[in-house]
Amino acid sequence: MSVLQISGLRKQFDGTEILRGIDVEVNEGEVVGLIGSSGAGKSTLLRCIDFLEQPDAGRFRLEDYEIADVASAAKADIAHFRRHTAMVFQSFNLYKLKTALENVTLALTDSRKIPASQARDIASEFLARVGLSEKQDSFPDKLSGGQRQRVALARAAVLKPKVMLLDEPTSALDPENVGEVLDVIRGLADQGQSMIIASHEMGFLRQVADHVVFMDHGVVEEEGSAEQVFLHPGKERTQQFLSRARV
Ligand SMILES: Nc1ncnc2c1ncn2[C@@H]1O[C@H](COP(=O)(O)OP(=O)(O)O)[C@@H](O)[C@H]1O
Ligand SMILES: [Mg+2]
Repeated sequence: MSVLQISGLRKQFDGTEILRGIDVEVNEGEVVGLIGSSGAGKSTLLRCIDFLEQPDAGRFRLEDYEIADVASAAKADIAHFRRHTAMVFQSFNLYKLKTALENVTLALTDSRKIPASQARDIASEFLARVGLSEKQDSFPDKLSGGQRQRVALARAAVLKPKVMLLDEPTSALDPENVGEVLDVIRGLADQGQSMIIASHEMGFLRQVADHVVFMDHGVVEEEGSAEQVFLHPGKERTQQFLSRARV
């Protein structure tokens, strides 16, 4: 059974339909790569899954928890989806006045109600996993972009989400910081973390994605294995996009 199933998702802003009936499925332990031009609706899709945007129509299922009509999702439904997913943003979204360790610890004490001392130990372990043990007492403004995003990844991973949602996690980084962040994401994928990654890092997605979804103007234009979509795209729009993206 899939971990996450999104069916018929629709979302409009100011009368313009941005998502026009999206179906996406994530299997257990799978990495789904989400590609498409700027404005295709990738961020909106990820934000709807986390209810950072209120979807207009569709059906969501997270393991055996189903929301039959997301337009009328109850508070408890939204809380369930937020509790079992974790978003990683392009712009990190760390608390500026908290250290790296405090940022990760707060995820556990706030949303998991884990006692502070225990939360700190777990947070410290996750910072070690992303190679930042030595930086745990640093504030975000003393960290490089790559280090900040690794803190954000630790903060998401520590919640053990059923699905992690990564929205262009390397787009805001200096080129020399991209590799270390991709390495951490690859590590999470190797540990079996299910995730959707919206990214323009085509070479990376070719390596790590089990399934690739190409979005265009609010619809899934083409999807398949990384090999199918990157090497043998069937649709002209996909071919155009990939030739511009220089895979
Ligand atoms: N809060 C919003 N209000 C109005 N329009 C929005 C909002 N968020 C996104 N959009 C529009 O939706 C379209 C898709 O945006 P987005 O989901 O960010 O695409 P992508 O992430 O693929 O670049 C764009 O045309 C964008 O301007
Ligand atoms: Mg986006």
